Amino acid sequence: RTDQIREGRLAGERSHDIERFLASMDADRWIARADLLVDMAHLLGLQRQGIIEDAPARALMAALLDFYDHGLPEAAFDERFEDVHAGKEACLIERVGEDVGGRLHIGRSRNDEVATCIRIRLKEEILGLLSSLTDLRRTLLDIAAAHTESVMPGFTHLQHAQPTTLAHHLLGYEQGFSRDTSRLREAYARLDVSPLGSAAFASTGYPLDREYTAGLLGFSRPAPNSMDAVASRDFVIEVLADAATCMTTVSRLCEELVLWSTSFAGFVRLDDAYCSSSSIMPQKKNPDVAEIMRAKAGTVAGSLAAAITITKALPMSYNRDLQEVTPHLWRGIEATRESVPLLSGMIATAVFDTERMAAEAGRGFSTATDLADALVRDYGLPFRTAHRIIGRAVRHGSLDLDTLETAAREAAGISVLEMGLTQEKIDTVLDPRHAVAARKIIGGPAPETAAAQIEVQRGTLAGE
Ligand code: ARG
Repeated sequence: RTDQIREGRLAGERSHDIERFLASMDADRWIARADLLVDMAHLLGLQRQGIIEDAPARALMAALLDFYDHGLPEAAFDERFEDVHAGKEACLIERVGEDVGGRLHIGRSRNDEVATCIRIRLKEEILGLLSSLTDLRRTLLDIAAAHTESVMPGFTHLQHAQPTTLAHHLLGYEQGFSRDTSRLREAYARLDVSPLGSAAFASTGYPLDREYTAGLLGFSRPAPNSMDAVASRDFVIEVLADAATCMTTVSRLCEELVLWSTSFAGFVRLDDAYCSSSSIMPQKKNPDVAEIMRAKAGTVAGSLAAAITITKALPMSYNRDLQEVTPHLWRGIEATRESVPLLSGMIATAVFDTERMAAEAGRGFSTATDLADALVRDYGLPFRTAHRIIGRAVRHGSLDLDTLETAAREAAGISVLEMGLTQEKIDTVLDPRHAVAARKIIGGPAPETAAAQIEVQRGTLAGE
């Protein structure tokens, strides 16, 4: 069968290279089922408005339902038809004859057809992503709940900075994923409009009931402007930006799992299922899933860059360039869809070595800030003076009473002994548990504060 769309206006055969170059069949597999739904809605609309008679409408519907139930014939994906819309029409016509099959495209273009299909599939994908984000957040909250007392070192510049807890650390990530959730929900609400009825771009003279077909397809309403409806892909950019943002956080967490599972950190043992070994080094256990996931974040960011760059100079309305955007959308979505559940599993099965974490929590003078705070609070020193004294003591290599006394005389010309500082006091203040427990204000790592935050976030999850 020849390409029914070309044969009127255009003559001659095309090389396979040209057909390949023009075809969107690989990406169109993503929207093949959505396309059949769009066909059914359009058909019902045509019949309802009396634009198509009942008999051909029935025959068309039977064929469409058959395609939907059993899958489109493989011929629909033949690259000679360029896209699934043309390939499927050819199959329909073959099935029910042109007198029937040739009526489905009344008042419609592939431009509104494809834009509608992409939105339908993307809505499904967003719902799937939202549910896997919910699982991930629940996993993080559950682990956090078990570790509000698990003291660990916190880092800035990847240097020991101040103690925190594993709960506080994971709650930080949960915040990011919670924002990803609301971003995706908002994007969903914005793209939830139906382009169907926009036809090529100028809509159609047929009295199509766009609200009816929008409703059948589960859209909240018809897209308000037919030109925008076929020509804009900012919804693709928006969702890819949300996916890339989410994957950036996913990747940061993966990076930490990679770091934490090193022999020199030893904070976590990943389950073997998420690790690979080496072809030469028999002892190796490498965190390959976390690494691939870290890389996928780059793939998604690349999809976003591609979508923006391809569309930035397109005049109204439809241009074939738009076809080149869609594979980037699916690539970005697929990478995100695969990553998020795997990350949940990887974290849920990870074994955290809380003893190792606790052992590291106080290293690198990580509670020096607390000692400076104590000098301020208990002896009335200006913070900057206390900061200089402690800094000088650390330079001398110790925070014991003798060293602090030397440092106080050098750095501020005062005596901490005369002020009444004792070694016992120093020991209390330098304990990482003490430092964590002191940080009770909103957002802090104190166990009861983190526990309260976990409850707040559980409530947020339950309300979504
Ligand atoms: N495969 C095309 C796409 O993805 C469908 C629309 C084709 N429209 C056209 N005027 N050639 O954009």
